[in-house]
Amino acid sequence: MCGIIGCVAEEPVADILLEGLKRVEYRGYDSAGMATISGRRLGVRKGVGRVSEIEERKKMSEMSGSTGMAHTRWATHGGVTDENAHPHASCRETVAVIHNGIIENYIPLKKGLQAKGHRFKSETDTEVISHLVEDEYKRTKDPLKATVAAVKKLKGQYAIVVLFQDRSDVMTGARKDAPLIVGVGKNKTFLASDVLAFIGQTDRTIFLDNLEAVEITKDRVKIVGPDGKAVSREPTQVAWELSDVSKSAFAHYTLKEINEQPKTVLSASVQDKAKVERFAQAIRKAKSVYITASGTSYHAGLLMKFRLNKEAKIRTDVVVAGELKEHTEFMGDGSVVVAFSQSGETADVMEAVKEAKKHGAKVYSIVNAVGSSLARESDEVLLLNCGPEVGVAATKSFTSQVVVANIVVDAVLGKKRSNGYKELSEAVAEALKCEAEVLELVRLYMGRPDFYFVARGYESPVALEGALKLKELSYIHAEGMPASELKHGTLALIEDGTPVVIINPSGPNHAESLSNAEELKARGADLIGISDEEDEVYKHFIHVPKVQPKFAPIVEAVPLQLLAYHMSVARSNNPDYPRNLAKSVTVK
Ligand code: M6R
Repeated sequence: MCGIIGCVAEEPVADILLEGLKRVEYRGYDSAGMATISGRRLGVRKGVGRVSEIEERKKMSEMSGSTGMAHTRWATHGGVTDENAHPHASCRETVAVIHNGIIENYIPLKKGLQAKGHRFKSETDTEVISHLVEDEYKRTKDPLKATVAAVKKLKGQYAIVVLFQDRSDVMTGARKDAPLIVGVGKNKTFLASDVLAFIGQTDRTIFLDNLEAVEITKDRVKIVGPDGKAVSREPTQVAWELSDVSKSAFAHYTLKEINEQPKTVLSASVQDKAKVERFAQAIRKAKSVYITASGTSYHAGLLMKFRLNKEAKIRTDVVVAGELKEHTEFMGDGSVVVAFSQSGETADVMEAVKEAKKHGAKVYSIVNAVGSSLARESDEVLLLNCGPEVGVAATKSFTSQVVVANIVVDAVLGKKRSNGYKELSEAVAEALKCEAEVLELVRLYMGRPDFYFVARGYESPVALEGALKLKELSYIHAEGMPASELKHGTLALIEDGTPVVIINPSGPNHAESLSNAEELKARGADLIGISDEEDEVYKHFIHVPKVQPKFAPIVEAVPLQLLAYHMSVARSNNPDYPRNLAKSVTVK
């Protein structure tokens, strides 16, 4: 959940690090810091707050040195304080470490180190790594060997970068179940948690495998595997454009990403036929099919399950990734697990996938981040092609997931590739034109404590998605559920003026949903209809274009995303960085 960047260069690195830090800030944003080696001096500046606030106070950009690293934190162990912000220096300040992950055995390690005389300055699990590396470096005099020896003592997850006070020419790193990649530039080399950190500097990347460690200089990369043997790996070119990682003319990344959807549904529709066919074959032949994902990606999984059941007649279980290990009784050789993830780094998803493999299942994934851990752990991967998603709320990745899921289901059904994507893209552009209606809803309901979202059948996951979006961006309590469930309890909460969003496209469930709407209205709810067909039962109505039923969730999601976004802005939140959350959830 934390963002990491390190760089060894010929030139001063502080500005490069600061720029990269801002780009990975979406990964965690409660505190941040930077460390550089200048001459034989280790400098550390860090504090609580957003990167720009810390820069204001501590002037990280003025740090000298051509080797340095920086970190944005999403707190796990230890409160949000200046002392707990990374980097963490060892007691003699010979070593400094930044870390993403959780060290599960840090308490016994800390006790052991304290008994040897090490003094700790923070409450974090991370600090043990600095002290361990310090000891190992004293013994081995070799940065990479010291790093490898130290991480061997760790239990848990980590991506770390280490600076050595007497070696301004090198930096080391290591990873286990958390992302760490190498960027290979001209006379500068990077270690980072993702490509966005250095995309303005280089697009040549080496993806480190799990349990590998690395030492970089400005023009050399040395990788060692878990057995200590050298690994040779060429850089690959990553395609994300720098323009994709800026806000352009938009006030926030989230708004930019919502508005990109007419384009991204089209790019998601461009898939390699042979890969899609292999994906479909695997599902067709599987003895059992599971879908697993978290959050918004889980909602996309629910939509895929619906079509696999109803149209392809393939029994499919959808399990939230963090719970998959509890649902493996019937999993085995011949099972297929389809994993959805934007980041490809979600710890719950990675654990689910490992568990599935342990049971003999094959893993097929639908991922946005090229080269991510999930992409590399999977037997087959289909990419979302929607470019980097920086806003913590999943928006364009969701609609792209629904596109890719539909392509796979169509292939399972043996359908020829549908040509409806141009029309879909136009419909999404049309759906975006609801800003006036959305702003009116925001004006009327921004002070309400609760919102409800209901739908039926294929649309039910869209209700869940609408509620999730509103919760995470506006901090208003929201619940999503099938409309049929209302009468089993939730109706008790409906009173005069309670806003209820009802997603109700024309089609087989339309009339029944209208009956539920009447029941809600009779109890005082203010109904907000989202549909291609208006009805007088709704107090407010947002029209979305009529599309093929399989694409309806895509156009319906758009006004829900805009509602959450504008509600967030109106309530003075930062929609790109909602409190307590992080984009890439790399802890369990
Ligand atoms: O990167 P992933 O798709 O695996 O992330 C899964 C969830 O953490 C993510 O969808 C989360 O729920 C979003 N913040 C929702 O907008």
